[in-house]
Amino acid sequence: MEVEKTPREELIEQRINNSETRIFKAVFPGDTNHHNTMFGGSVMYLMDEIAFMTATRFCRKPIVTVSSDKIDFKHSIPAGTIVEFVGKVVRVGRTSLDVQIDVYIESMYRDGRDKAISGTFTLVAINENKRPVPVID
Ligand SMILES: CC(C)(COP(=O)(O)OP(=O)(O)OC[C@H]1O[C@@H](n2cnc3c(N)ncnc32)[C@H](O)[C@@H]1OP(=O)(O)O)[C@@H](O)C(=O)NCCC(=O)NCCS
Repeated sequence: MEVEKTPREELIEQRINNSETRIFKAVFPGDTNHHNTMFGGSVMYLMDEIAFMTATRFCRKPIVTVSSDKIDFKHSIPAGTIVEFVGKVVRVGRTSLDVQIDVYIESMYRDGRDKAISGTFTLVAINENKRPVPVID
């Protein structure tokens, strides 16, 4: 039997779908380290930025990052590939929410892609005094 969703659950589901955020990036030599793969710090910077955009688009309020969970670097990202960063809200608390970021690698010259990196960030909605406020009114 299907359990009916509350209006709040429906709103959250809709906002999660609408706030899913994707960006693509071509990995050029300027983005890489001496192994000719993308520098981990640059990847984490982009992951935090996508998490910030995803959370902001979810609640449309000022947002700060309060924590990041373990980030798994399963595969390196070689120069000359295309990467896609996907941000999705996976938990909605009272004043905080979690955004999962998955990073996929694509070859430029062949179809298909692999998940290279994933991690979760916790962000908090704040007011003008920089104190936490509900992510959803
Ligand atoms: C974010 C901030 C306003 C939270 O203040 P606080 O006094 O810890 O607030 P609270 O204890 O009321 O916690 C607020 C929410 O954050 C969550 N939270 C706080 N610290 C957390 C942590 N380390 N990990 C996960 N969640 C955390 C709480 O569980 C709570 O969530 P909920 O309302 O959904 O239950 C404060 O820690 C801050 O300003 N941090 C700096 C943020 C910043 O500048 N980030 C940019 C990186 S330099």
